[in-house]
Formats: sequence, structure tokens, C-alpha cells
Amino acid sequence: MRIDDVLDEVRALRAADAPTHGGRTLAYVYDSGLAEVDELGARAHALASAANALDPTTFPSLLRMENDLVATAAALLGGGRETVGTVTSGGTESCLLAVLAARQARPEVADPAVVLPTTAHAAFHKAAHLFGLRVVAVEVDPVTFRADAETMAEAIDEDTVLVVASAPSYAHGVVDPVAEIAEAAARRGVRMHVDACIGGWVLPYLRRLGVEGPAFDLSVPGVTSISVDLHKYAYCPKGVSVLLHANTELRRGHYFGSADWPGYTMLNTTVQSTRSGGPLAAAWAVVRHLGDEGYLRLARDTLHAVEAIRAGVEATDGLRVLGEPGATLLAVATDGTDAGFDLFTVADEMRQRGWYVQPQFAHGHSPVNLHLTVTAVNRDCHDEFVADLRASVDAARGSGPVAVDPALRALLAGLDPDALTPEQFAGLLDAAGLAPGADAALPSRMAPINALLDAAPPRLRERVLLEFLGVLYRPSRREATVD
Ligand SMILES: Cc1ncc(COP(=O)(O)O)c(C=O)c1O
Repeated sequence: MRIDDVLDEVRALRAADAPTHGGRTLAYVYDSGLAEVDELGARAHALASAANALDPTTFPSLLRMENDLVATAAALLGGGRETVGTVTSGGTESCLLAVLAARQARPEVADPAVVLPTTAHAAFHKAAHLFGLRVVAVEVDPVTFRADAETMAEAIDEDTVLVVASAPSYAHGVVDPVAEIAEAAARRGVRMHVDACIGGWVLPYLRRLGVEGPAFDLSVPGVTSISVDLHKYAYCPKGVSVLLHANTELRRGHYFGSADWPGYTMLNTTVQSTRSGGPLAAAWAVVRHLGDEGYLRLARDTLHAVEAIRAGVEATDGLRVLGEPGATLLAVATDGTDAGFDLFTVADEMRQRGWYVQPQFAHGHSPVNLHLTVTAVNRDCHDEFVADLRASVDAARGSGPVAVDPALRALLAGLDPDALTPEQFAGLLDAAGLAPGADAALPSRMAPINALLDAAPPRLRERVLLEFLGVLYRPSRREATVD
């Protein structure tokens, strides 16, 4: 096929995606609103995408760029002379490696555990699953959604290899009391990781702009590692994060080497072995171009947009902002259970108006809410967002809340997800409206499906949605691209 035709096909496929630019997708994507930043990232990516960080001696450019990025991150996040780091593929990999390094450092612990607030990112559950740790999830304050340092301290015992706090949490945008938690961890001789994957590149600038909040970085005594994603608020192309450790000894456990085969001695700093130089070079270029001043400006724009959206939500009848957000993320809930509308319908209404807001299911004290990741580009559209949010609430009020049949709700609550057969899962997918369609397209109204999923206990929801994922990832002959 001709190159232009192939690229046209890519463009046509991409047309069905949520927009990645313009501020109308308030999750998954981060937009500086500066076209030249995207252009620079793409060009630098292309220059290095074939280079392989698997061997830094063969590709010294990547070694240099990685050391530069780590140095910049360390300077931003309170690192000292001993601070070292690793560039990874993203937040989840950084969190995985923080957990792995901590576990490897304590081989004498037979039943290692990671102590985290219930609001910590699911990446830590994945790490525990992959590396054989126990998760000790500690309740957070039911109103502020901030981790409780005292309860966290009580949960630390001789099996604890790592304690985690967020700066901020994804779900509510709340910065945990890092200093108090780190102090408790240090007292027990346990490592402490700060997950600043989403906030690490914007919180330091917010502090400079006068936003107060807990200290959260490597300068806090007891913090042994911190992660920050460059593909979030550093506005770099996807596939790049930095994990910093306070010293080389702390980092050692996530390195892997094997000489026990006939090929090259495999030496890896991350989960990946072959690592494209593309995301690294793109990030290096974008960070150099924007510089400290550029990020300060973008943080100012973002702060302005967050404040405007927050004020707009709080002035909207029936809506409130959950917890005490301290960064650039908001969780929007209804005022009460009898608000007369539901947020899943509001999300559908927003979608019809060209916005993507991310529904978050109820969990513990956290009610159903809509997650908003606000980025710099929202400086230009926050008023329009608030106006459409209000119109969406009005429309949702007009149609009334979606209801889940009480009998179905009771049925869901009683199901044992671990005992269900593939046929029963297929039946559940059908009942949830997620049965495979001809083109795997989702219905335009997701509210009934989301309400049903919300009624399912988390474990059942996980299993049903994983079945759904399995249905999505099934190639058909029609989709074959090489024939
Ligand atoms: C606090 C936090 N940690 C970890 C992650 C995981 O990052 P990624 O999606 O890049 O793997 C995220 C993603 O939003 C996050 O917000």
C-alpha cells in the first residue's frame, strides 16, 4: 500500500478516538496547548526511536539524556548529592520498580507487605500481584480523603518492606501527609515511596505560585524514593517516567542481570529490556525547551483553570468537589443521594457535548464521582466546560437517575466472581450491555452499564471488565493488516 494511503488510514482510525488536544478530554491526556511542544517531541522521538537503551555503551546518547533527565527531576524534587534514578516507561513501571527494589532488599521477610492508603494508585496492587507481596490497605479520612499518618504508622510491622503515600492521589487529587508517614516508616527502619507520578512535575511549581500543602519530596526525612511521570505534567509524549531513589543502595534491587545463557549478558534497569530511545529523547527535548520558566507558566495556567472549574462546580446546584484536592485534579460528586440525577448520565451528556469526563465508581467512603484531570490547555476553555457541565446536570435532572433493578442488584451482590464459569461471565456481559458487537463499539449511553457495574462488588467488576477486555482484544480476519 502507498505511504500516503496508509497514513490516511491511520488518520481515519484516529478520528474515532477522544481528542488528545484542546482540553476536552479530562483524563488520560495532557495538553500544554503549545503546538510547538508537540512538534518538538515528535521530531526528537523520531530521531531516537530506533536506538536501544538496552545497551547504554552502544547508545551513549541515551545514557547522557537519561542522566540529564534524572538530574533535572532530582533538582525539582528535593534530591541530594546521593540521589540516583531510572527512566521507565510510565507511572506503573516506576511504582512496580519501587516495590520490587524494596522487596529485594529484604529477602529475609517471608511474607512481605506494602502498607498503603486505600487511595493509592492501583499500580501498587499490580506490583503486589506480580512480585508476591501482601497489600495492607489503610483507611483514609472519610471526608478529606487524606491518608491518616497515625493509622498508617500502626499498620507497619516486621513484614512491611515499603510504605506508600501519594502526592497527590489520582482519584481525589489529595496530597497525603508525607512527612508524618515518612517519619513513622523511618522509625521502623522501613522504606517510604512517594507516588508523585501525576503531581511531581506540577506541585513544585504550584508551591512557587503560593499553593500551600504538605512537603512531599525527597528532602523530607524518611522518604527513600519518589516517582514522577514526564508524560503527564511535563507534557512529554507518552512512555516516560522517572523513579528516583535517595541513594544507589536503595535502587539496587530493581536492577536485573543474567549471564546464564549463551547470548549477551542481559543487564536491565527496568522491567523492559529493549527500551526505545524515542520517549526518552522526546522528553529530554521537551524538558529542555520548556525549561523552568515554561513549566512555571504552564502551572500558572493550569492553576487558573482548576480554580475556575472548582468554583464553577461548587456554584452548581447539586454538585460538590470531593475531599480536599491540593493539585490539579478534581473529583466531582453529587450533593447527596437524593440529588435527582446521577453522574453517569451527566458523563453521557458531557460526551454528547464533546467532553470526556471519567466516571469513578463508589469505593469505601468515596461515592460515585467524575474525575477531572485539568491541564494547561484548559485555560482557554474552562468557562465553556462549566457551562456544558451545568447544561448536562440539567439534562440529567430532566431524565432522572438511572435505576438498577433491585433484584439484579441483589443477584450481583451474591455472586462469587471466583466461582463463575466463562458462560456465566458471558451472560453477565450481556446483562451489562457489554456483549460483543459487530465492531466492538460501545453504546452511546453508558449510564445504565455504569450503574450496573457500580452495583457489582469490586472483585466482580474487575472480573467482568477483564472478560470484556478479552472480547475487545480478539482480532477478526477483517482486521488483519498484513495479508
Ligand atoms: C498517582 C499515580 N500513580 C501512578 C499512575 C500510573 O501511571 P501510568 O498510567 O503512566 O502507568 C498514575 C496514572 O494516572 C497516577 O495518577
